Amino acid sequence: MRQMNEYFRTPYIGIWLFWRPALIINSPEIARRVLVKDSGSFRNRLVGSGDSDPIGSLNLFTINDPEWTNLRRRLTSTFTAAKLRVLQDYVRSKSKELVQRIQREQKSRIPLKSLFVDYTTDVIGTSAFGVACNATLTGKDPLRSVAEGFMTYSPVRGLGTCCVFFFPELVNIFRFKFFPNSATDYFRKIFKAAAAQREVSGTVGESKDLLDALLKLRKETVENNEGYSEDTILAQAAIFLFGGFDTSGSLLAFITYELAFHLDIQEKVYEEIIEAKRLHGCEDFTPEQLAEMTYFNCVIKEVLRKHTSMGWLDRVAKIDYQIDDKLTIKAGTPVYINSMGMHYNPDYFNDPGKFDPDRFLPENEKDIKPYTFMPFGEGPRTCIGQRFALMTVRYAIAYMMLNYKVQPFPNTPKPEDVIIEKRGMFYSPGEPICVEFVPRIS
Ligand code: HEM
Repeated sequence: MRQMNEYFRTPYIGIWLFWRPALIINSPEIARRVLVKDSGSFRNRLVGSGDSDPIGSLNLFTINDPEWTNLRRRLTSTFTAAKLRVLQDYVRSKSKELVQRIQREQKSRIPLKSLFVDYTTDVIGTSAFGVACNATLTGKDPLRSVAEGFMTYSPVRGLGTCCVFFFPELVNIFRFKFFPNSATDYFRKIFKAAAAQREVSGTVGESKDLLDALLKLRKETVENNEGYSEDTILAQAAIFLFGGFDTSGSLLAFITYELAFHLDIQEKVYEEIIEAKRLHGCEDFTPEQLAEMTYFNCVIKEVLRKHTSMGWLDRVAKIDYQIDDKLTIKAGTPVYINSMGMHYNPDYFNDPGKFDPDRFLPENEKDIKPYTFMPFGEGPRTCIGQRFALMTVRYAIAYMMLNYKVQPFPNTPKPEDVIIEKRGMFYSPGEPICVEFVPRIS
């Protein structure tokens, strides 16, 4: 532990990615400069895919400046509160299906990650690709199989992903891909069909979901003679799904698991939701009503702190950059902000292993040091789907809590002892985690 604390307290640490020097940043002050203040000198990520993989290389996560700035500006309007409000009925209905599924399968041990990925694939997949997905109710759907493909590891895919993230110059040589061919082919097929259907029905321009926003973007760029290729548009739908289903699914699984192990906290959440239902006269909450539930949202933040999906935030220095009096990094050096390390640094979060949502109560949250809590990243390249993810997660937990109490099965690991998936890039449970769903009698 002593060694660990010393590691956390060092402002930065140099490492080698084989032939390439890189820097891990533990200091919130340096993180602020890289992510926000001097973000113009750190626009790009190292991650990238090859020429033979347009969907992998043209999406918002992997694309570099100057293309990134233009694309991000245009896509930001896709995720405004007003646009997301249009999706609320759909997300609400999927959350209710989630409750039906739990009701049907509650006698068996339902692996939480898989259950919630069924739900997040439906919500994000349907919004981005415009196809009806039915995984929440049935556990099966063609798009769900594609998502499963992303989460299935093989040595070759592991090597490919490792190169995409850390050695992008090898990606072209070995023809690795960010998205497997089968996924790209399927995306192309359903995207084309859905786009054609909306063209025929004359609804392009109406804003019903993410697909509409993407099609509108394509139309506008064609009109302005800066037309994005079909692959560029498709790449955004693909990254919305890829960036969202696993991260949101893991978050839901860990929230449920933590609540099962902390019944007092669970009861407080339940009471708050019941009170909101009483206040608003029904349980068809709006996204704003869910966002206003103080304690409920403290719980979500505390799970995001303890079980953050992306443990680091990467950027590449565009110019030679002076970190401090002792160190100037060369242009091209990758920099990794150690967000998970900060979330577990006892200097910033007292007793960091403890599940304590009170840290995020308004009277305490104001004392959290800036740039030490960054589950969605920071600065211009922060997560574009944050609002959408939180809306999806809040609906699912609210309806689940209204209908079920969750408690641990005997002899199951505590949340901090759950094995974490070591072969993926995201932090996610590496073993099936399950809870007992006990119906609430209302
Ligand atoms: C709980 C769920 C989620 C978590 C924890 C999460 C976390 C993150 C993080 C940490 C980043 C990197 C930010 C940075 O480097 O500063 C990121 C980027 C991104 N996320 Fe999310 N994300 C989630 C859900 C989603 C969803 C639902 C979508 C889309 C619908 C999405 C789309 C993206 C995209 C496109 C980027 C790249 C943004 C850019 O480079 O401009 N994410 N996310």
